[in-house]
Amino acid sequence: MTTAKRIILDCDPGHDDAVAILLALGDPRIEVLGITTIGGNQTLEKVSRNARVVCTVAGVTDVPVYAGCTRPLVRDVEVAADIHGDTGMEIHSYQLPEPAFDLADGHAVDFIIDTIMSEEPGTVTLVPTGPLTNIAMAARKEPRIVERVQEVVLMGGGYHVGNWSAVAEFNIKVDPEAAYIVFNEKWPVTMVGLDLTHQALATAPVETEIAGLGTDLGDFVVGLFGYFREAYKNAQGFDDPPVHDPCTVAYLIDPTVVSVRRAPVSVELTGTLTTGMTVADFRAPAPPDCHTQVAVQLDHAGFWRLVIDALRRLAPPS
Ligand code: BDR
Ligand code: CA
Repeated sequence: MTTAKRIILDCDPGHDDAVAILLALGDPRIEVLGITTIGGNQTLEKVSRNARVVCTVAGVTDVPVYAGCTRPLVRDVEVAADIHGDTGMEIHSYQLPEPAFDLADGHAVDFIIDTIMSEEPGTVTLVPTGPLTNIAMAARKEPRIVERVQEVVLMGGGYHVGNWSAVAEFNIKVDPEAAYIVFNEKWPVTMVGLDLTHQALATAPVETEIAGLGTDLGDFVVGLFGYFREAYKNAQGFDDPPVHDPCTVAYLIDPTVVSVRRAPVSVELTGTLTTGMTVADFRAPAPPDCHTQVAVQLDHAGFWRLVIDALRRLAPPS
């Protein structure tokens, strides 16, 4: 029996962040030390509430949620209301509860630093699924966390396509300076970008299986996917919505579900058309000091099996 991966999930819920939270909470191979929030899909206030609502629906009230930075390091705030709606987690046919618990006292950046500095080196993994502001701030405030972290597995970027510009993905584009810091610190970084997450489609059979659980939690996820499907159709022309963020957690649970390739990655900060692009260098071989890798291929069935099993564990069907 291997020990569970101990993670801090840094997120901006967000429909797909919500699924990442549920997968992390519902799989015994993951231990969530805390959830930290970052202004991204919506304002910090809204996503911090949403994170606690997700935990509340899942019946989990003992994982602390810390609020982090309200805005990017340098640039103005940009939210993704066209995808996630006015609340950041708009939903179809489901009444969201009030959060059953308050935010934890203290700042997310300090929680990240204190946790990594107080745990054994190499035992805490950072899983950012929003803009990278909190993670960059933590690395700058306490540089020793870089060598103590086990790895950083982030949703962001892409090596072929963008979604917030022709070549830049939302999480990177809204705070490229923070992303630059995170990709260039010498910790192991796995970029789970759009090339991978556009394979994580919530298809009709997936929705049917989740609805078939017959649980309140299943109804919650189906409600999320209902809104997400419509938004992705209208904003980006997708028939089925790509559920990006839980791919990070799936990789940590079972790396055979997400295959990766080593390649140096950095972030464009000054391009006229390309600011926020994650530039991956696939010229072989990757240099020996390469500390970054990119996700390339998803096992779609295996991924959804992990998610649906987690939903079943959190709320067993009667
Ligand atoms: C990323 O941006 C957000 O809208 C999603 O939650 C995901 O983290 C996809 O580009
Ligand atoms: Ca997100």
